[in-house]
Amino acid sequence: MFTRAIVRTPAPSLTEGLTTASLGKPDYTLALQQHAAYIAALQTCGLAVTLLEPDPAFPDSCFVEDTAVLAERLAVITRPGAPSRQGEQQRVAQALRAFYRPEQIETLLPPGTLEGGDVMRVEDHFYIGLSARTNAEGARQLIAILEQHGYTGSTVALRQVLHLKTGLAYLEHNRLLAAGEFIEHPLFALFHRIPIAPAEAYAANCIYVNGTVLVPAGYPRTRAQIEAAGLPVLAVDTSEFRKLDGGLSCLSLRF
Ligand code: GLY
Repeated sequence: MFTRAIVRTPAPSLTEGLTTASLGKPDYTLALQQHAAYIAALQTCGLAVTLLEPDPAFPDSCFVEDTAVLAERLAVITRPGAPSRQGEQQRVAQALRAFYRPEQIETLLPPGTLEGGDVMRVEDHFYIGLSARTNAEGARQLIAILEQHGYTGSTVALRQVLHLKTGLAYLEHNRLLAAGEFIEHPLFALFHRIPIAPAEAYAANCIYVNGTVLVPAGYPRTRAQIEAAGLPVLAVDTSEFRKLDGGLSCLSLRF
């Protein structure tokens, strides 16, 4: 069960955030409304939400998931691979000190880079995507830290997606939403995979929060597949964050 989440209000500089999409610039006012609705959805799922102030120096800083990897007895402060995002993690690290003891907080060091969007937890194991943002040294450091704290980790080489969780979401009880390169990936062969249609690939980035699956609004086929698996869903509109390659998982740290 999660009890808390950390989120960060988008700054007006959000419109200058990194993207590989060709969907135009986000509408800042609408992004703020969607962010507020996202917080409300987390609260509906029982989470106490800590809201951090916006920082215009970091256009992508609302995507807090990339700045830390969290577990019950461990908080790892990451080192984002995108140069424009290096530094975002300092404010999140400060916030996490309210919830973790000093000996439970670890920090990734150069030359390692790693973004939390590349990390998918399954029970006490953490899959780590090797991507344009997460390098082998960052993954090596994270696995060493995880093992010191009683967890395990392993790497997954990514071919097409920005982050591992761009194409995968673990829905507990061995259920895995999978899009694109992950639908047939041998590393995930033992999971019950729910394949996402190419036209709805963005919707692979769902989050399971205390028995409910938050799904992006506007992807009816994916929603129906999750409901058919017996899971309640809550749709949240993330259209403005999609324009920056951002999704539901990216917008919070849940712990
Ligand atoms: N716009 C989010 C990212 O590229 O990290």
